[in-house]
Formats: sequence, structure tokens, C-alpha cells
Amino acid sequence: MQPQSLVPGDTRLSTGWEHSLELRRQDQLGELQTLKPYRDALPLASLAPLWGGVIDCDYGYNIEVGENFFANYNFLVLDIAKVKIGANAQIAPNVSIYTAGHPIHPDSRNSGYEYGIGITIGDNVWIGGNACIMPGVTIGNNVVIGAGSVVTKDIPDNMIAAGNPCRIIREITEEDRDYYYKDRKFDVTDY
Ligand SMILES: CC(C)(COP(=O)(O)OP(=O)(O)OC[C@H]1O[C@@H](n2cnc3c(N)ncnc32)[C@H](O)[C@@H]1OP(=O)(O)O)[C@@H](O)C(=O)NCCC(=O)NCCS
Repeated sequence: MQPQSLVPGDTRLSTGWEHSLELRRQDQLGELQTLKPYRDALPLASLAPLWGGVIDCDYGYNIEVGENFFANYNFLVLDIAKVKIGANAQIAPNVSIYTAGHPIHPDSRNSGYEYGIGITIGDNVWIGGNACIMPGVTIGNNVVIGAGSVVTKDIPDNMIAAGNPCRIIREITEEDRDYYYKDRKFDVTDY
């Protein structure tokens, strides 16, 4: 598939996005072809449960996502380098993924050179609202990133990590199965 147009501020789709969209389309959208047409075609409220809103990125084709990907409103990806996201990702509103950066020293920064370092996010990761992922970071499988985190370092598998800078809070254990929020127990068994 050819990459989509590179108009700044436009919503662009890569193979991954289209794949994800295809899944949603199969589930819920019938024959609609791409994100933009269905955004244009449907009233905003009816879109909310399907796809949060605008996905902004530099290139789109540098982004790869796995099965069952979901991003809520305002997902921003500076994908000057590769961004790989595993299966079952849940991305809350206003999450930003930055592979790009500028040199620290003003002389080198003003030269115009900038860099992009790839970001990898594992399977089954939930990234809380307003989190920001820095260049080069790897987030492991089954990780929860708390809302508002600035993730500056790698986070290993099976951790809850939060804060600025983002630090591990604790490991996710089998005990977590029984609770949906803090000490609130599930009263269902069908998951
Ligand atoms: C991380 C989160 C899932 C809570 O996990 P938890 O295991 O229940 O953590 P707790 O609430 O028991 O908090 C444990 C500690 O981490 C801190 N903490 C929790 N979330 C935090 C966050 N987002 N940023 C900074 N610190 C956080 C708590 O203050 C607490 O600190 P303390 O031990 O000093 O008191 C939750 O706080 C969160 O960020 N959820 C994201 C919600 C969201 O983005 N929703 C959008 C829709 S998807």
C-alpha cells in the first residue's frame, strides 16, 4: 500500500492504521473506506465509541500497530522514526509519542539537524491520558502507564508505571484479575 499524503496537520493512515480501521469497519462500519470519509460522513457523536478522533502523525507509514488497536481522542505520533505498537493497545486521550528531538546545544540545535529514535510498545498496553513517550523508549508487554506520565526510560513487562518522570509503581500480579479499580471487585466472570 502507498503511504498517504504528507500534508502537515492532516490525518494520515499507514498500513497499520488501515488494518486497525478495517477491523473496526468490519465490526461496526459497513462499507466505509477510510477514516476521513467516515469522519465526514457520520455525526461526531456516533463516532465516539468507534474511534476517538484525529490521529496526527508525520508520515503514518512509520507506524505499525497490532490487532485490536484503539486510540481515543487526539493521538499524536511524531513518527520520524519507527513506532511499533503491539496487539490490544488502549491509548487514552491526548497521548503523544515523540520519536523526534533536537540537539541540546543552541548552536547544534540551530543548525537544523534533528533526530528520530524508534519507540516500541508491547502487547496489551494501556497508556493513560496525556502521557508522553520520549524518543527511544521501549514499553514492555502488559504495561499500564498512568495518566500524565512522561516516559523517559524503558518500562519492563507487567508493570504499572506513572509520573513525571515515569517510574514503576508496582508489578501487575494475578491478584489484579479480581479487581477493576483499586479495591473494587468484579462482579462478573465472563472475561
Ligand atoms: C495508574 C492507575 C491505573 C492507577 O493504578 P493503581 O495500581 O490503582 O495505583 P494507585 O491508585 O493505587 O496508586 C499507587 C501510587 O501511584 C500514584 N499514582 C497513580 N496514578 C498515578 C499517575 N497517573 N501519575 C502519578 N502517580 C500516580 C498514586 O498517587 C499512588 O502513590 P502513593 O503510593 O504515593 O500514594 C491510574 O491512576 C491511572 O493513571 N489511570 C489512567 C486513567 C486514564 O487515563 N483514563 C483515560 C481513559 S482510558
